[in-house]
Amino acid sequence: MKKNALFCAAIINKSSNRLKMADTNLYTLKVKNVEAETDKAVVLTFDVPAELKDKFHYKHGQYLTLNFKFKGKNERRAYSLCSSPSMDSDMKIGVKRVFKGLVSNHINDNISPGTEIDVMPAQGHFNTKLSADQSKDYFLFCSGSGVTPMLSILKSVLEEEPKSQVCMYYGNKSVDSIMFKTELEQLEKRYSGQLKVIHTLTQPKVRKEGGIFGLFAKKVTDWKGMKGRIDARTIKEIVTENRRGTTPVECFMCGPQGMMRTAEDTLKGMGIDEKNIHVEWFLPEEDLNKTSSIEGSGAKATVKMNGKKIELNLLPNESILDGLLRIDEDPPYSCMSGACSTCVCKLISGKAEMERCLALSDDEVKNGYLLSCSAIPTTEEIEVDYDV
Ligand SMILES: Cc1cc2nc3c(=O)[nH]c(=O)nc-3n(C[C@H](O)[C@H](O)[C@H](O)COP(=O)(O)OP(=O)(O)OC[C@H]3O[C@@H](n4cnc5c(N)ncnc54)[C@H](O)[C@@H]3O)c2cc1C
Ligand code: FES
Repeated sequence: MKKNALFCAAIINKSSNRLKMADTNLYTLKVKNVEAETDKAVVLTFDVPAELKDKFHYKHGQYLTLNFKFKGKNERRAYSLCSSPSMDSDMKIGVKRVFKGLVSNHINDNISPGTEIDVMPAQGHFNTKLSADQSKDYFLFCSGSGVTPMLSILKSVLEEEPKSQVCMYYGNKSVDSIMFKTELEQLEKRYSGQLKVIHTLTQPKVRKEGGIFGLFAKKVTDWKGMKGRIDARTIKEIVTENRRGTTPVECFMCGPQGMMRTAEDTLKGMGIDEKNIHVEWFLPEEDLNKTSSIEGSGAKATVKMNGKKIELNLLPNESILDGLLRIDEDPPYSCMSGACSTCVCKLISGKAEMERCLALSDDEVKNGYLLSCSAIPTTEEIEVDYDV
């Protein structure tokens, strides 16, 4: 059932800088159920056998890494859990199609109950510690598939912290593209007074009404909610209207880059402490086609991984992770774009620069942690350790 050699990766808790060891092996899980969530998204439920229950224990807001093999090439992608360990008996992920996306379309088109998928146990630190004594105001900002970890977070908060309140501001194109619409409505009813979901649509459906022979017809919509993108003004209004005086505020955000930056800046501008603003990147959009500005001329690398010492010559502008994969080693990774933290390692000697680093805090970078998928050595020799 286990797919690769045993080793662990360090997971860094962003707020406390605590290191934890995570299992980065792949295990074969059967898909128990596939539900169409919208016409562009499905929810997969996994069947976790009794002997793997402990390994697949997870926290709200964490993600799974799925591995697929296409024409002999491994393709790994991260998918946030939309289920909550406090409320749901099964582990679920929500996957939205990306235009021309390899894995998201494969999942939407070809996965059915009984399909076996290689899955890495949950990772990530997009959460806070919950406690029944705490009373906090949680604000969740998301759009599109960014709702997935939010659903997990809000269900856990509602169940674990009865004195806390959750307000989610959720953007979509149209009503048809709202993932988890029914589940959110049911939760709002069940946790009335504790959960508020505010939708905003950029393109609510319109129809023409009135007029004579098609002339002078008015465009009308049945949508009564907010319209437009999530922006600084509405974020400010929503937080101001829904926070309870001096109750501590905890904010989470996941969505397109522009929305994330706006939300982060606005919340900081409102005096909310950075440590209470949690950000999950699915993909750094603007960086996708960026060519590297780092001048790496190759390096002699020494890598400690799974207790063994590996020596390799990295090619010019080759990341540590790419070098290890090139020589058929088995380093931990998921997104390959600096957005998760599965590939983290610690710099022991030498220097490296990261092309993209969304998943580590400035302190963690200062303390020598590197996302090996993005780290390119800038010294002739470098030594890193994955086993920290
Ligand atoms: C921590 C983490 C959690 C994630 N959780 C979820 C989740 O819960 N649900 C979910 O649906 N996705 C989630 N993602 C995104 C997911 O991992 C994949 O990136 C996404 O499904 C696209 O993969 P693909 O193979 O279909 O596209 P690819 O074949 O990798 O990409 C094809 C093209 O699509 C574009 N593209 C790729 N990804 C995106 C994107 N996310 N948005 C816009 N354009 C894109 C790129 O331009 C690329 O050229 C998460 C990512 C991370 C890092
Ligand atoms: S594999 Fe996700 S940050 Fe490197």
